[in-house]
Amino acid sequence: MAKAFDKIIKGGQVVTADKTQVADIGIQGEKIVKIAKNIPVDGAEIIDAKGKFVLPGMIDVHVHLQLPFCGTVSSDDFDSGTRAAARGGVTTVIDYATQDKEKGMYAGFERRMDEARDKVCVDYGLHGIVIKWSDQAASEVKKMIDEGVPTYKMFMIYEKEGWQSDDAAMYAALEYTKDYGAKILVHAESERVLNVFIERYVKQLDKVGAYGHALSRPNFVEAEAIQRAITWTEASKGTLYIVHMSTGEGADIVKAAQERGVHVYAETCPQYLVLNDDVFKDKEKGHWYATCPQIKKKKDNDRLWEGLKNGEVSTVATDTCTFTTKQKAMWGGDFRRIPFGLPGVETMWPSIYSFGVRKKRFSINHAVRLCSTNPAKIMGLAHRKGDIKPGHDADLIVIDPKFHKKIDYKELDTNCDWSPFQGVDMYGFPDVTLCRGSVVVRDNKFVGRKGYGRFIPRKPGGKL
Ligand code: URP
Ligand code: ZN
Ligand code: ZN
Repeated sequence: MAKAFDKIIKGGQVVTADKTQVADIGIQGEKIVKIAKNIPVDGAEIIDAKGKFVLPGMIDVHVHLQLPFCGTVSSDDFDSGTRAAARGGVTTVIDYATQDKEKGMYAGFERRMDEARDKVCVDYGLHGIVIKWSDQAASEVKKMIDEGVPTYKMFMIYEKEGWQSDDAAMYAALEYTKDYGAKILVHAESERVLNVFIERYVKQLDKVGAYGHALSRPNFVEAEAIQRAITWTEASKGTLYIVHMSTGEGADIVKAAQERGVHVYAETCPQYLVLNDDVFKDKEKGHWYATCPQIKKKKDNDRLWEGLKNGEVSTVATDTCTFTTKQKAMWGGDFRRIPFGLPGVETMWPSIYSFGVRKKRFSINHAVRLCSTNPAKIMGLAHRKGDIKPGHDADLIVIDPKFHKKIDYKELDTNCDWSPFQGVDMYGFPDVTLCRGSVVVRDNKFVGRKGYGRFIPRKPGGKL
């Protein structure tokens, strides 16, 4: 007779967004099939979780692996980036497929699928990136929604890179996607205004160095763009998701819009919670930290933590876009030429567990909500991910609440020779990570397989 369970995670404190209970989890193939006390072993492989937490796998809905950007390509590819994900407890990532300038949206999607398929070590999804809106773009978006891509990013900056969308395209996309339950994701920064400041600080390069990146993006550059995107959303009755929100002002504007009934969600990232713009003042290393939007101030950290606690900020993701020190050196002293982006997927959950839960900003259940359950709901994955229940994918992590380590880039799987969190003591790294029932991390070492990860079609209409 076939065994009832292939694996049983025994005796852990099973933590979901809603509750914590001591229980065993029975796994058959790729799925969770039972949650109960003292499930009989009956030949199943046992993963001992006594004294440990068992959590749903985390979902990082914002990564850019092997992205051609700023004259180079981000150094974490779909292999190293998803190994790093697994070691940090992330079992699903969502990357982006950019509209091909000549061939359109769907060609961009197919190309990105080809780049990912044989390399990914955990499950993945893709958002589309819309640059130009047209009838063709609209019909391809519809086709992609049907194939599991219900979210579309639009950039209000990056004119030079050819990625910027204008207000008309954003309005049209919001109006069109609402009929299909899809969402528009926005990178909200006001490019024309920030260019005024860039020109100003470029004239003082010797004096400002990498800090010019921060000086040229005052908070209102993000706040005004968020306000504008929300205005289009309110008028069109579409749904907006603000990626990598970095300012306290942004949290205030989102909260007010949510209170008016506008369909808007916001995401923030660990770098906007744990770091502040003093990092740019380091003469040797300041430029390594450049990302867009840039890291802000302590008061923004505090307001974003509060937003996560209270609910106007719904998710944590990382915006992983890794560049090595050699790539960062391309800046040559000019803050406009820094490859923008940071590594992060491997330290997302540990940073939220360490600085959110352990610092008593919110409960472990709420941290699970922010890093797994809410991302799953908003992004259309809640039918199989983001929770621990029978029928769901067995995406699970086991963490020892006593285990901690000082972050050292040499020891991480991310393909980077530095870390924004170098030397910071963090808890929460998983002893064991399971992705769809398979152990991909054991004793906090990657033991999975390149190409194991699967594209997970997502559903439209996701909401909290
Ligand atoms: O600087 C960043 N964040 N690079 C990745 C692209 C983006 O803006 O998300
Ligand atoms: Zn962005
Ligand atoms: Zn991004």
